[in-house]
Amino acid sequence: MGEGDFRTVKSLNALLFACLIGKKYDEVKSIFVEFPKRYGIQCNLDTFNTVIKAFSESGNTSSVYSILAEMDRKRIEPNATTFSTMLAGFYKEEKDKDVGNVLVLMKQHGVKLGLSTYNIRIQSLCKLNKSGEAKALLFEEMLARGGDFENALRACKVSMLKQWFPNFATMKMLVDGLVSISKVEEARELVGKMKERFTKVDMWKEIEEGLPQPQ
Ligand SMILES: *[C@@H]1O[C@H](CO)[C@@H](O)[C@H](O)[C@H]1NC(C)=O
Ligand SMILES: *[C@@H]1O[C@H](CO)[C@@H](O)[C@H](O)[C@H]1NC(C)=O
Ligand SMILES: *[C@@H]1O[C@H](CO)[C@@H](O)[C@H](O)[C@H]1NC(C)=O
Repeated sequence: MGEGDFRTVKSLNALLFACLIGKKYDEVKSIFVEFPKRYGIQCNLDTFNTVIKAFSESGNTSSVYSILAEMDRKRIEPNATTFSTMLAGFYKEEKDKDVGNVLVLMKQHGVKLGLSTYNIRIQSLCKLNKSGEAKALLFEEMLARGGDFENALRACKVSMLKQWFPNFATMKMLVDGLVSISKVEEARELVGKMKERFTKVDMWKEIEEGLPQPQ
């Protein structure tokens, strides 16, 4: 191939994509580092998304943070694909804290936590055999979308019987929701159950004290 063939972002992207498909992740990285500079090519979102996929598939999703910083400097906005790829990577690496970070970044960039994001999260959890967490996520989504606190309470009780407890934020949302529909007793019972688990006891005590008192 002559040099001229490389001089557009389209051919750069095609090359990167070919390396990605061939699982030549180190190649993706070195081409991304060298070619744009050498050939004066302006990378676009497609370029970055392909490179991010290479990092994510090769178990180096943490390296994506520096790519995001570079995109920021070049004023290229990430999209839902960018973040979904990161989520899938961090889930595979079981880096829960980073999954949380990505969800925050999505909010900051105004990228919606759409159905596709939930599907990726659920698929990733199922792949890790974390079906309990996958179910919880569905339950969280149900709360976020429907505000259907009574059904959520029912789902929550079933999952607690199986010794599977939703995370703090989800439970807090459910407790607040129950209070908002005047189901204070149910909220209190739930808080009591969470306290029994001896995790975040102080936070639950504080919430318990904040509940409306019986007349
Ligand atoms: C990903 O990490 C592995 C192990 O640290 C390393 O050998 C590999 O070169 C990295 N790949 C990329 C694309 O950075
Ligand atoms: C994100 O941008 C890439 C590159 O332009 C595009 O191919 C992809 O469809 C976009 N993703 C979404 C969810 O719009
Ligand atoms: C998930 O569970 C299945 C069936 O028990 C097992 O065959 C598979 O290896 C597990 N996968 C992981 C990633 O643990």
